[in-house]
Amino acid sequence: MILELKDIQLSFTNARKERFHLLSGVNLGVQEGEITALIGGNGAGKTTLFNIISGFQKDYTGQVLFKNTDLSKLAPFQISRCGIGRLFQGKQLMGSLTILENMLMASSDRTGEFPFSYLVYPRFLKAKESEKTELAVHILETLFGKGCKYVDMLHHPASELSYGEQRMIAIARLLMGENELLLLDEPTAGVNPVYNQTIARIISEMARDKNLTILMIEHNMHFVREVASKCAFLDEGKIAVYGETNAVIDNPAVRSSYLGL
Ligand SMILES: Nc1ncnc2c1ncn2[C@@H]1O[C@H](COP(=O)(O)OP(=O)(O)OP(=O)(O)O)[C@@H](O)[C@H]1O
Ligand SMILES: [Mg+2]
Repeated sequence: MILELKDIQLSFTNARKERFHLLSGVNLGVQEGEITALIGGNGAGKTTLFNIISGFQKDYTGQVLFKNTDLSKLAPFQISRCGIGRLFQGKQLMGSLTILENMLMASSDRTGEFPFSYLVYPRFLKAKESEKTELAVHILETLFGKGCKYVDMLHHPASELSYGEQRMIAIARLLMGENELLLLDEPTAGVNPVYNQTIARIISEMARDKNLTILMIEHNMHFVREVASKCAFLDEGKIAVYGETNAVIDNPAVRSSYLGL
């Protein structure tokens, strides 16, 4: 297991001073190299679980183990340096920055470079930047083909791209860092079916060719069936059903309580 969630519990006190248990013992193991979908109703706690894994939410009990290391004491930037990349729900690119700048922003320096070396060694900065620019172009060409419009538009503001295109670039740039695990929060939300096909393809290719493990939250069950090999259904604070994707989506409890079928 590359990621293990062990008995994760999280509760809040509401305005009437009542305790509300959002997560009441989440157990989930994510197998290396696999694409796992996390499904569940609005407000079930899926994004909160991602916040716990990536270190933004700390007031939980239980354990988050990434390659057997406990992440509970680590800050978000340290967790991202461990090799966990994240696509946020709804967030897109920085519209005023160019496509290239958005790609470069995501490149992590896990090798422990001295952050001020750029000031002291401007030539080092130049070399590093051109290396990373090459990587950005390579990633875009690999995913979208040689001569793709994103390479032509490298120096254009990201705001010139449609929402769906920005979503795809936001996924593609997760390859800039040395990530091993990607947390994707609703990659297809607000994206039309044509782009869904491309997003399905790039996620599958990223997992297969880069040996990435992917945990993704998604409400589009066609997409989940196409992309994910495993599926976990979060309901009433627990992983209520887990297994092969088709079996989980066709499970009577999932169909009635989540899909309304
Ligand atoms: N700090 C907090 N205090 C009180 N309630 C909170 C807090 N953080 C989250 N919640 C509540 O917990 C619930 C879970 O939210 P979360 O964003 O994890 O859901 P989700 O499963 O991602 O839903 P969606 O599918 O709509 O994105 C929400 O109802 C939210 O309001
Ligand atoms: Mg959410």
